Amino acid sequence: MESPDVESIRKDFPILSTKTSHGKQLVYLDSAATSQKPVQVIDAVSDYYRTYNANIHRGLYDISARATEEYRRSKELVAEFISAGSYNEIVYTRNTTESINLVALSWAERNMKKGDVILTTQMEHHSNIVPWQMLARRKGAVLEYAKLKGNAVLDMEDYGKKLEKRPRLVAFTHVSNVLGTVNDAKKLTEMAHDAGATVVIDAAQSVPHMEIDVGRIGCDFMAFSSHKMLGPAGIGVLYGKEDILEKMEPLFGGGDMIRSVRFDSCTWNELPWKFEAGTSNVEGGIGLGAAVEYLDRIGISRIRQHEIDMTRYALGRLDGLDGVAVYGIGKKDMTDSNRAGVVSFNIKGAHAHDVAEIFNSEGIAIRAGHHCAMPLVNEVLGEPSVARMSFYLYTKKEEVDKAIEAIAKVRKVLRLEDAR
Ligand code: ALA
Repeated sequence: MESPDVESIRKDFPILSTKTSHGKQLVYLDSAATSQKPVQVIDAVSDYYRTYNANIHRGLYDISARATEEYRRSKELVAEFISAGSYNEIVYTRNTTESINLVALSWAERNMKKGDVILTTQMEHHSNIVPWQMLARRKGAVLEYAKLKGNAVLDMEDYGKKLEKRPRLVAFTHVSNVLGTVNDAKKLTEMAHDAGATVVIDAAQSVPHMEIDVGRIGCDFMAFSSHKMLGPAGIGVLYGKEDILEKMEPLFGGGDMIRSVRFDSCTWNELPWKFEAGTSNVEGGIGLGAAVEYLDRIGISRIRQHEIDMTRYALGRLDGLDGVAVYGIGKKDMTDSNRAGVVSFNIKGAHAHDVAEIFNSEGIAIRAGHHCAMPLVNEVLGEPSVARMSFYLYTKKEEVDKAIEAIAKVRKVLRLEDAR
């Protein structure tokens, strides 16, 4: 597959040509936390504010009609991007976390009871743990975690064994935000369905980076965020199968989510609007639509291939570096399907926060800490924190090289030469 033209893509991202407070060229290696935004997205949001800012679904005048149309169109684009049946299956929320909470507070609240099992995994972000812990507390349900093998991949034997408990709900991440491991979403979903479970996928780290077909995967729900896929923050997506969403109760009541209201009763609006109470994040939706158009234009499969190349390159450069531990699937076991563009590491003798600070002094933005996955980082990897580089369609090999040079600087500044 032809690689995307990274140099020309980079021209669309104004921030990538800026300098940091240290006078260094910004090297942005934190796209797993949030992605940068191309001018096409910035302009789409600005154009809305400048030329047709209005509330949607209410105004009987031109600019409101246009805003309504653009907002709805963004849902059609998102539906197409993940091969959903229609935009009825695309509910806008604030982010991945809210999408998962919507499932917990609406679907699970009505469909789960005391003693029911929820199965998740040891490689989850807090957003796919805490809502289930809260649900388990409310309902008296039991939360189980499928283990990892070699601290890198899901232990399929353990997953299979835990499915024998016939969980009511299975919630797993498609791509780990710490390890970069890509789970076989279709297989995990099929196994969970065979055990009678409803399936929720945290796709925050997969939808922005790889081709997703929710019909092929077969999941019941999928959650992801706009800000990690070139769109604005404050808008996220909950995909749900139409027949399941139809049966669900809305979480919030108020404007826009109703069809009719009387003093003594009300009826719900049709999908997907019954889940979107109050004025929507119109600019967020419009920006997300522009982001999807941008990703489509470059081609998500080419983006995925570029990230595979960057990841292989980074793992190759890190391989064998003295005193550097790399987490997740190693260079020799990496295939084109099992790892995404997330590379977590530690430098022996250095706290990851010091590593990130020294990287920052070179203009390199990486994330360090527990990455909102404390059980994985602290209890499975046994680390207080890890440093993480993450890649996207605009990442260059030269930026990975700068990160490798910065590792040498960390060792020098912290006098770690002997810590091997
Ligand atoms: N979940 C985001 C990350 O991994 C914020 O950085």
